[in-house]
This record gives sequence, structure tokens and C-alpha cells, in this order.
Amino acid sequence: MGGGAPCLLEPCDRAVLADLLSFLIGEKIPFRLIGAGSNILAGDDGVGVTLVATGRLVDLDLFDADGPCLRVDAGVPLPRLVAFCSKQGLSGVECLTGIPGTVGGAVVKNAGGRHGDVAGVVERITVIDCRGSVRSVDSSGCGLRYRQSDLEREAVVDAIFRLRKSSPRAVRERTVEIFRQKARSQPLEARSCGCVFKNPPGESAGRLLDEANLKGIERGGASISRKHANFMINDGTATSQDFDFLIQTARDSVRDRFGLDLELEIDRW
Ligand code: EPU
Repeated sequence: MGGGAPCLLEPCDRAVLADLLSFLIGEKIPFRLIGAGSNILAGDDGVGVTLVATGRLVDLDLFDADGPCLRVDAGVPLPRLVAFCSKQGLSGVECLTGIPGTVGGAVVKNAGGRHGDVAGVVERITVIDCRGSVRSVDSSGCGLRYRQSDLEREAVVDAIFRLRKSSPRAVRERTVEIFRQKARSQPLEARSCGCVFKNPPGESAGRLLDEANLKGIERGGASISRKHANFMINDGTATSQDFDFLIQTARDSVRDRFGLDLELEIDRW
């Protein structure tokens, strides 16, 4: 959501991505990396820097290393990853069902939910660091934690997931079960950035926002979902100013009522 960028570059493979980033870094041209943009709220006047999109890095490579492992490019959409594993009867990423976005963004933000997260299944990550060098790192050294990691200043190129052999039927059943659970409580059919705020320790941001009577409030084309109060919906006409207003209103209400400061889960650019 939000305004445009002066330039969008979409490298066609990993080698081109690496060359492009070293060039941009070497020339000190400011840029930001973007996957599907599902978790980003950009300002209405745009982002003002070059965007490098990973949307064409879409390879999946299954191999054996003491069990099934899957190397997945950063631009692979999570729904495709989940569907691939389900078809192959490989268990591990069912917890990512119903989450939009790409593997790169999901790794950086350690995407997940009550059934698990990326940290629980990713083993190695290939990154391009701020000097433009390509490195393969063990995921345990990447600071993956609740919707956060130490990778925010690096570019994720691909990730290796360690999976467990199961059967297509068992994995599909688990995937469908998790999807149904989510669809019951979350507005998956509407345009949103997913959960807007992180859950404060031991609390649910959705429950706090609900108890502060914020469900259904609107500003321009943006509204707080009536189904789950931590989701904000775009009817297709919302501006980022509309969302900023709802975010501020929600934060103020929760602070007044519960004395808690909600932290953004989405990235505000
Ligand atoms: N609740 C309400 N009202 C609401 C929403 C929730 O009372 O409007 C209550 C629920 O009834 C439940 C509790 O709050 O008792 C927790 O709600 P829920 O089970 O929906 O989980 P959540 O903590 O709101 C988290 C993640 C979701 C993830 C779900 C399910 C965060 C911020 N949210 O939601 O992740 O899908 O668990 O695993 O961690 C996301 O990261 O974008 C996201 C949507």
C-alpha cells in the first residue's frame, strides 16, 4: 500500500541480483529490497528510493541431506511453497498457510503464527550483505525471533528449509485444517497487511483492540476489521494517511485503556 518509487528493478536470477546490489552499494545509490510488499505500508508520496524486487527469483530445489531439504528462492510466494510441500508430502511449512508474501520477506520477519514460524524450519540462509558480498549463514546466527531478525539490513537471496517426509494426504489435511482455523477468525478474503501490531508479551493485540471497541471504525477507504481487530482493511481506495490515522487512534485507545504501547508489526516506510 502507499505511493510509488522512482525506479523498480527486477533481477532475473540470483547472480544478477548480486551484481545489481554490489553496483548500487558501490555507487552509493540508496535502494530497498521488496518481495510482494504484503507487510509494507509506504507513504502516499512514495518511497523516494530505487526498489529492487525479488519477484523473478522463483526456483525451488529439492535435495537430500540426511533427510529432505528444500532450497527456495526469496521471490517464491509462501502459498506456492506450502502447496509444493503439500503435493510432495513434505511436512514443516504448514504453519505458513494463509500468510501472503514471499520467502525472503517471511525469513526477514520470521513469519508464522500459533502453529510455528520460519525459525522452526529454516536451516541456512543465503544473504547479500551491505558490502555486496554473498554469504551462506546458519539460521541460528540470524537472530530470528518474534516477527523480527537481524537480517533487516541484508538481502535474503534464498533459504534452505529442513522438512520431514510425510504423505501428501497428511500434509494437505494439516494445511487445510490450519487454513480453516485462520479463515474463521481472520479476514483472509479482504485486502490487508495481516496483523498490524505485534502481540505484547502474554497478550493479544487483537483482543486488546477489540475490547477498546475499535472494530469497524473507518477512515477514508481504510477500516478496522469486524472479524479480527488487529487487521486493517483497504477497500481499494485507502491512502496511507487513512491507515496512519487508524494506527494512531488504535494505539491511543489501547494506551488509555490498558496502559500498553502497541508496537507495529508491519513495516511503515
Ligand atoms: N481476539 C479477540 N478479538 C479479536 C481478535 C482476537 O478477542 O478481534 C482474541 C481471540 O479470541 C483469542 C486471542 O484474542 O482469544 C488471540 O487471537 P488469535 O488466535 O486470532 O491470535 P492473534 O494473537 O491475534 C496471532 C498472530 C497471527 C497468526 C495467529 C494464528 C500476531 C500479531 N498475530 O494472532 O499472525 O495468524 O496468531 O496463528 O502475532 C501476522 O503476523 O500478520 C498474523 C496475522
